[in-house]
Amino acid sequence: MARRWVCGLLSLLAVAAAAEGNAEPLIRLPTQQNEHDAAPAPAPSAEEGVTRWAVLVAGSSGYVNYRHQADVCHAYQILKRGGLKEENIVVFMYDDIANNPLNPRRGVIINHPNGTDVYAGVPKDYTGDQVTTKNFFAVLLGNKTAVTGGSRKVINSKPNDHIFIYYTDHGSPGSLGMPNLPSLYAGDFIKVLREKHASKSYSKMVIYVEACESGSMFEGIMPQDLNIYVTTAANAVESSWGTYCPGLNPSPPHEYLTCLGDLYSVSWMENSETHNLKKETIKDQYEVKNRTASSDYITGSHVMEYGDKTFKDDKLFLYQGFDPAKANNTNRVPFPGLEGAVNQRDADIIFMWKRYEQLNGGSQDKLRVLKEIKETVAHRVHLDSSIDFIGKLVFGFEKGPSMLEAPRSSGQAVVDDWDCLKRMVRVFESHCGSLTQYGMKHTRAFANLCNNGVSEAEMKEASISACGGYNSAKWSPLVLGYSA
Ligand SMILES: *[C@@H]1O[C@H](CO)[C@@H](O)[C@H](O)[C@H]1NC(C)=O
Ligand SMILES: *[C@@H]1O[C@H](CO)[C@@H](O)[C@H](O)[C@H]1NC(C)=O
Ligand SMILES: *[C@@H]1O[C@H](CO)[C@@H](O)[C@H](O)[C@H]1NC(C)=O
Ligand SMILES: *[C@@H]1O[C@H](CO)[C@@H](O)[C@H](O)[C@H]1NC(C)=O
Repeated sequence: MARRWVCGLLSLLAVAAAAEGNAEPLIRLPTQQNEHDAAPAPAPSAEEGVTRWAVLVAGSSGYVNYRHQADVCHAYQILKRGGLKEENIVVFMYDDIANNPLNPRRGVIINHPNGTDVYAGVPKDYTGDQVTTKNFFAVLLGNKTAVTGGSRKVINSKPNDHIFIYYTDHGSPGSLGMPNLPSLYAGDFIKVLREKHASKSYSKMVIYVEACESGSMFEGIMPQDLNIYVTTAANAVESSWGTYCPGLNPSPPHEYLTCLGDLYSVSWMENSETHNLKKETIKDQYEVKNRTASSDYITGSHVMEYGDKTFKDDKLFLYQGFDPAKANNTNRVPFPGLEGAVNQRDADIIFMWKRYEQLNGGSQDKLRVLKEIKETVAHRVHLDSSIDFIGKLVFGFEKGPSMLEAPRSSGQAVVDDWDCLKRMVRVFESHCGSLTQYGMKHTRAFANLCNNGVSEAEMKEASISACGGYNSAKWSPLVLGYSA
């Protein structure tokens, strides 16, 4: 049996119904890949003096987010087997999964139901509270003095070098999550990419991003003249999807209560592992987009591309390396049939329910987990309703909701004034509590306040009206930090 949840429309009832096993139609995916091994591949010239660098970032923490760190560990193994040197791969992961008491295979992380360990050997460059936006930027810019803690490994690249960046986690319109706040905002990221380009310290860069609304990190703002090619798991207005989730098909081994991977991420990685990367091109790999959505594109997500699309015929080994054991792969390995996937924002609730169901009736743990579910859902409802209320206060009862939700036309950035967006988020959080991973989905509402010229003072007044008296307790930004 397999089920599907619609992004952002989750209610306690819907979850309860799902937990009882209401079946819904699912993402249908092609099980076969096109044959495209007809053209003889020219012998790839060894690129003299080119070092391949990589930065891998898992933007979450917590066992409930198992899949993001599993993705990153898996990516590390692919690059390592491809011949990239450990000194050239920088890994950001919270590192609270392998030895987590909830992990059924202690010390091991898998990224596929039949997968072997991907954790062994992964360097612990930046873990725990070192996984920050600030460190990520410093590492990419190769600025050792700006790094706080960690291995101090940075991308010390030269003008001819190639850089591969892979990020996976929760996202929102215009920002990506980080396990330590603040989040990574698109405006800042593009600035850093421009700075890296200006420092003339790479020849080409390829960036893969898995997150909800990941297209919004680049749409309308990603320059085409930085020699950077980007693909994202989703467009600017939709969820991305977790996969190998409990109760879905294919499901993880029964002892796992959590999703093992993310749909776009496992798609490109399983593609890399089953192809000869001296023949497979960037463009070929972009075709994994067929696996992340149904052919009618009603479910799943749309893989997008941004930036400089002039070097898509480059062979992937130039970025991901080449594993000689894959030399004879036929490029015809069928995708495993992926029938079910769950949107990023609901994966944590599923985990909590699975845990609740598994615990003994009447036990303290069971009551604690139930309390946690109730509090989580209540805070979600509070966030949704207070943002709706603010919209009505500012734009009027009729127009409020549509003004907040209106996506900008394609090709336009989520917001023009990124600092305004961050200020609006901070004003909201100081009166209404932390947005949390779930509430990040509302950043478009904050962006639209800016886009319509709403002032910080008006926003403050509306936030006080909406949230005055709300006891944010454990959701207080004083405890959790501000997300902007
Ligand atoms: C993906 O789908 C597109 C459009 O349906 C098709 O042209 C393309 O060949 C497909 N690619 C693969 C690898 O199946
Ligand atoms: C895992 O292996 C079993 C046994 O070989 C196979 O039946 C199953 O399809 C595999 N699962 C996936 C997701 O590939
Ligand atoms: C590196 O970071 C430090 C501290 O933030 C800053 O003062 C310095 O200007 C940076 N160096 C370069 C080359 O950008
Ligand atoms: C690939 O095929 C060639 C020619 O048949 C053979 O010599 C080589 O050992 C094979 N490589 C691998 C890794 O299987």
